[in-house]
Amino acid sequence: MTNNKLFIKTLRGEKNDRVPFWFMRQAGRYLPEYMALRKEAGSFLDLCYNPDFATEVTLQPIRRFNMDAAILFSDILVIPHALGQDLAFKVGEGPVLTPVNNLEKLDALSNKSIHDHLNPVYQTVSNLSKALPEHVALIGFAGAPWTVATYMVNGRGSKDQAETRLMAYQDRETFTKLIDLLVSSTSEYLIRQVDHGAEALQIFDSWSGTLPADEFIKWCVEPVQKIVENIRAVHPDVPIIGFPKGAGAKIKNFVKKTKVNAVSIDTSTSITWVQNVMQPLCTVQGNLDPLLLGSGGEPLKKAVYHILDHLKDGPHVFNLGHGIIPQTPPENVKMVSDIILNYRRS
Ligand code: CP3
Repeated sequence: MTNNKLFIKTLRGEKNDRVPFWFMRQAGRYLPEYMALRKEAGSFLDLCYNPDFATEVTLQPIRRFNMDAAILFSDILVIPHALGQDLAFKVGEGPVLTPVNNLEKLDALSNKSIHDHLNPVYQTVSNLSKALPEHVALIGFAGAPWTVATYMVNGRGSKDQAETRLMAYQDRETFTKLIDLLVSSTSEYLIRQVDHGAEALQIFDSWSGTLPADEFIKWCVEPVQKIVENIRAVHPDVPIIGFPKGAGAKIKNFVKKTKVNAVSIDTSTSITWVQNVMQPLCTVQGNLDPLLLGSGGEPLKKAVYHILDHLKDGPHVFNLGHGIIPQTPPENVKMVSDIILNYRRS
């Protein structure tokens, strides 16, 4: 049966009268109801691995703002966790892992029982596909191999991903093995999300921006290309959104090579360039500055119309250039949602 939800039709390349929208990190710390549930769950990871809580947290922003898509509540780091790497989220520090930075540590990981570990996530996807309002589409997601590898190798977030870039130069064989492991486990993970009811997928490559052009092709384009091929071999019709954040003009080649249906555009990319160069190639998603969403007022309104007006002649999903920041007043999100819901393109 063809999926005729506005968000899915737009990802397929259709241009419609209204622009579908959702926001990265639409479930999260800026919502008091999220903070209450996180407290009840105990920790962020407890929230991710509890299907009832994760389902509820996914639904919270939809109830308030009526987005066209809900994104599964989880994290990109559940994959290294499922492979056997330890993981903790420390308040004020973010994720902390024991670094996997040589062959011995890599060989200690295993993809044998990842699906047992990830079963609560699949359960959340199943719950959501039943619980969501009829017009709202469900997005599954994973981190791209490069971005996940930066956390695995470095053991925490970093400004320039230097340790991972060094490992990729100095121990290319081991690093290739790590990326290959992530390509296969991430492909399986995303395929299972679709099996359980995800209607579109987004692959987050948050740290692709620090790589030189050749390394970008090797560690970002090629692995995502393989994942897209693996998914399409099983689910040929599921739309896939790529998000190579910070890649600038390199996103053009990224889209051509990976054959994603849509590309999410970060805040630093010029909207006229997107309109002229990217929109003729694929559906574009983005690219409001999350800090402006946090800041509010007339400049926010102006920026929302600026994006809507520039992209009105082709397929566009309204979104941010990166995730909502915790300081964002929910009223600002409501204001932007109402503008988009009432905007008519013709
Ligand atoms: O609403 C949604 O967008 C869905 C859920 C989602 C989360 N993380 C929840 C989350 C998604 C899609 C992600 C992706 C993710 N996770 C990325 C890629 C996108 C991006 O932001 O660049 C990355 C790099 C991660 C890894 C990660 N998770 C970091 C570095 C952190 C700490 C930084 C921070 O914002 O606190 C997290 C924690 C995290 N993931 C939170 C949420 C709601 C905050 C956890 C909390 O409640 O304290």
